[in-house]
Amino acid sequence: MARRRQLYEGKAKILFEGPEPGTLVQYFKDDATAFNAQKKGTITGKGVLNNRISEFLMTKLAEINIPTHFIRRLNMREQLIKEVEIIPIEVVVRNIAAGSLAQRLGIPEGTRLPRSIVEYYYKNDQLNDPMVAEEHITAFGWASAQDVDDIVHYTLRINDFLTGLFLGVGITLVDFKLEFGRLYENDEMRVVLADEISPDNCRLWDAKTNEKMDKDRFRRDLGKIEEAYQEVARRLGILPEAGSRDMKGPETMQ
Ligand code: C5P
Repeated sequence: MARRRQLYEGKAKILFEGPEPGTLVQYFKDDATAFNAQKKGTITGKGVLNNRISEFLMTKLAEINIPTHFIRRLNMREQLIKEVEIIPIEVVVRNIAAGSLAQRLGIPEGTRLPRSIVEYYYKNDQLNDPMVAEEHITAFGWASAQDVDDIVHYTLRINDFLTGLFLGVGITLVDFKLEFGRLYENDEMRVVLADEISPDNCRLWDAKTNEKMDKDRFRRDLGKIEEAYQEVARRLGILPEAGSRDMKGPETMQ
């Protein structure tokens, strides 16, 4: 097999050149980081599960006409995606107070918010991803006013859809983070959903017990991290065919 060119290595994923122009291969690692990489670890099998969970959710979103970068899953740890220009904004949607919102505003974790709240963070590790307003995004040219309109429109639809989807399998969607990119096709540009949607970037609580089923188990040393990610996949009906024993997958890339 020809050696692929690595284009970018992030905290949880690696991007390789794709087989055709305009495509990339997104490889999901087991590496986990929190608090801007101050805490590092490995969650065995996470890459395999996130690859499947993100495939499942992006496919469902495409069915309700949300444009995404996802093309198809290639194997246990890789998916083929469209190459996009990432908009350097993390879009966070919150339905229930938790994490940084609970801390910053002194709202007890678990409080249902009066309505869903959309926040923006500027993607910049050196600055610790500071929260920004729409004004900053347009003033500094990170995205146009039209891009922001599209992003908010898609984000609210994604939140409604995923809230229902997760509730159907006994999971409360507390909050999550999205990233968008610009896709250039036939001289036209459109905003599409990019990155991944998985327990790494969502807060997912068991609807009955409020038990955490996401990366907060790693962030807060709650244990049973692998089990939580597996349980999310199991409830969505998408545990890997090979079962958990094969989830470690290859350690090194060809
Ligand atoms: O930490 P905070 O409460 O702001 O996180 C809100 C949501 O965004 C959580 O679901 C978290 O997993 C996600 N997030 C993320 N990547 C970041 C920051 C937050 O996926 N860099």
